[in-house]
Amino acid sequence: MYKIIIALFVPLLFFTGCTSKKQQEVSEELILEMRVNADEFMSGLRDILVGQIQKNGLVAAVSVCSDSAQILTNNFSVEKGIYIKRVSFNNRNPNNTPDVFETEGLNYFQQNLDKGNLNTVSEYFKVIEENDVKYLRYMKPILLQAPCLNCHGPEEQIIPEVLQLINNRYEDDKAVNYQIGDLRGAISIQKVF
Ligand code: HEC
Repeated sequence: MYKIIIALFVPLLFFTGCTSKKQQEVSEELILEMRVNADEFMSGLRDILVGQIQKNGLVAAVSVCSDSAQILTNNFSVEKGIYIKRVSFNNRNPNNTPDVFETEGLNYFQQNLDKGNLNTVSEYFKVIEENDVKYLRYMKPILLQAPCLNCHGPEEQIIPEVLQLINNRYEDDKAVNYQIGDLRGAISIQKVF
């Protein structure tokens, strides 16, 4: 019986540890820096996307979500010394497939969303030590909003030119049929410290 209780509690402690700052030995400043970076990255992408849709239309904007994310990722790593990307279980680009830590984070966000507990301050982080190098891994959820439906919504609602372009570019696209408020994915940041 004792063993069963431990088996039940260990994963629970481990899991809650991921959001407890004390156990992680991470400074509040570092977490704050990650929050700011995640917000900057997302608002940067959103501005480019919305600007491109308004200026050149939806079809032209298809490449934006892809190329701009790459450019922003590179700029962030050069300027701020962090690696930042987006991940999703139902990814359009297979490069955005989550790794083990990111899978944990996405599951954590999805479970919280299902319980009605996901909000703008939700985050998931952990310190990982490998060969004497300490990494902070940090994630923030990305929820689907109305403008995203143009390219990630129900297939029958996506205009045919856009759908065709997406299918030409991404052979194995999984990022459609989302509804507003769904967990679209997450931002994932890594920093050595
Ligand atoms: C004009 C079309 C378009 C719109 C609008 C759009 N996206 Fe995308 N999205 C794409 C494309 C194309 C990709 C593939 C990016 C790549 O190649 O890395 C993508 C990829 C993503 C990814 C990375 C995971 C994956 O599927 O590969 C996330 C997260 C994402 N989009 C979220 C959003 C959100 C949130 C919105 C609304 C604010 C949005 N997108 C609006 C076209 C769009």
